[in-house]
Amino acid sequence: MARIVAGVTASHVPAIGAALDLGKTEEPYWRPLFKGFERSKEWMAKTKPDVVIVAYNDHASAFSVEIIPTFALGCAAEFPPADEGWGPRPVPVVKGHPVLAADIAQSVILDGFDLTIVNKMEVDHGLTVPLNLLFGQPKEWPCRFIPLAVNVVMYPPPTGQRCYMLGKAIRKAVESFDEDLKVVIMGTGGMSHQISGPRAGLINREFDTRFLDNLTKDPQALVRIPHLEYVREAGAEAIELVMWLIMRGALDDEVEEVYRFYHVPASNTAVGHIILENKQ
Ligand code: DHB
Ligand code: FE
Repeated sequence: MARIVAGVTASHVPAIGAALDLGKTEEPYWRPLFKGFERSKEWMAKTKPDVVIVAYNDHASAFSVEIIPTFALGCAAEFPPADEGWGPRPVPVVKGHPVLAADIAQSVILDGFDLTIVNKMEVDHGLTVPLNLLFGQPKEWPCRFIPLAVNVVMYPPPTGQRCYMLGKAIRKAVESFDEDLKVVIMGTGGMSHQISGPRAGLINREFDTRFLDNLTKDPQALVRIPHLEYVREAGAEAIELVMWLIMRGALDDEVEEVYRFYHVPASNTAVGHIILENKQ
């Protein structure tokens, strides 16, 4: 049986990718950020998942504003890095797991979640930056990935509750897969986060800390947060945090917090990161 052993969240600030690609990780601005992920990379190398499901958002890279699926599951064998304006990032092609992805699509759709099935897709910083933070800069990524693109770029995004329940449906699908696979689930984006306008750079450390605390202890308090509260309290792009609830829904009710890291500044965003393990 395949099983989900842990959940990981991490912000996906594009400037982190640029710092990596341009060799700036030792600069004073960036060093503390990358240092915060050293333990995470060790944890990932030790955990050695076979497959990582990544709930992330596309930023008008694979999907233009012409078509925006709410939940789109990557069922392809490969997902090349997208050209986000400066050429594709120099990161390995992301290898998928089409068989498990197809099983997840079947199970989750029959459970009432109308996923879009994507058989060809490029992946942007929403996915590639967290991969670097958790796996470093290898020549090839060490496992398979199933991207799950979530709309948080055009109103209305899905509710936190819907995301949480989708996580539960994904878990059920994974656990009904016959092959013995160790699966980790990720949610990317967040935390406090306002990219443009008069409130650009808004950081609400209290909101973020409470969110991290409740992610472990009381996810029910988080699924009730309405969209407007994210936007008002932590900035327009803080809505990306609903993707963390897909991760959380896929875990046990009681989890062990293995590690957390919170860092400001990184561009306009508070970088938040947590690793949660199922206890059994
Ligand atoms: C920034 C953060 C993001 O999540 C994003 O998608 C784009 C930009 C930023 O802080 O610069
Ligand atoms: Fe983003």
